[in-house]
Amino acid sequence: MKKKEKNTIVIGALNMDLVIETERLAHLGETFPGNHFYTAPGGKGGNQAVAAARSNGGNCDVHMIGCIGDDLFGSQLTDLLEKDKVNSDNIVVVPGISSGIAIIFILPNGENHVNPVYGANEFCDQKQLNSVKKLLNNSGVLLAQQEIPIQTTFQCLKLAKKKLVTTILDPAPNRVVPVDFYYYVDVITPNETEASYLSGTEINDLNDVENAAKIIQKKGPKSVVITLGSKGAWVLSDEFEGHVPPFKVDTVASVAAGDAFNGCLSSRLSQGFGFEESVRFASAGGAICASRSGSQTAMAYLREIETIMS
Ligand code: RIB
Repeated sequence: MKKKEKNTIVIGALNMDLVIETERLAHLGETFPGNHFYTAPGGKGGNQAVAAARSNGGNCDVHMIGCIGDDLFGSQLTDLLEKDKVNSDNIVVVPGISSGIAIIFILPNGENHVNPVYGANEFCDQKQLNSVKKLLNNSGVLLAQQEIPIQTTFQCLKLAKKKLVTTILDPAPNRVVPVDFYYYVDVITPNETEASYLSGTEINDLNDVENAAKIIQKKGPKSVVITLGSKGAWVLSDEFEGHVPPFKVDTVASVAAGDAFNGCLSSRLSQGFGFEESVRFASAGGAICASRSGSQTAMAYLREIETIMS
């Protein structure tokens, strides 16, 4: 049997997504019926873990670190991760608290509005840090977002850097962070809105994107990848700088496309692929995800990504 690459650790939120497909949002005080409703496993952490596991072709183990409530959603969330071969041994049940949920409205053009209630995710603390500490010795990448307490994420990034593990941060949603937070980040992956927030600049075209990436890099991260949705991505790294064109698909729901991008990027970087190739791979994974409905269920498998890339 082929020897596996080092583990990928994902620390972050697990939510049950309550999805409403609708022609439009209701106005204040108005009742407006939607077209279709479904629940789907989500949370940026969970989504990225599934994207990493599906896209690495079994070459490395993905460990999810996080918290769920002692309710039906919680057990469903861990069961579904396990089905996707994401290790859930370090997911902790918080008694008496509800699991995270997100109410998501999807509009006919695939755009979305997301309102999460983080519930048990807010309880990620020392226990989760201890799990990360335990796993770091055999890990190549730590992937984090900003949906759990920021101090927990900060300490994880610090621990990972100490062990020379590559850290990837999806700075979503926008949060106020400790002063030297980004110095512990190897790769930061904001979307346009987050890049605008982080750089304090307006983004209207690729020149603005390039400028924002330079400002963000000065805050500490080694490499900056700004995801641009249907316009591709902008990369600023030692290895490669420039625009990575998009893969064209018909968008059904872009809600978890950023998570697909991050999970696929981590899976490529953890296997030692170059930066430009890894970003192309991640863009392909993001595009496939946007062409489907659902969050974790929409993540692409390795062979699907290889097909669209070729
Ligand atoms: O990035 C999409 C995710 O954000 C959704 O799955 C939802 O749970 C929110 O956390």
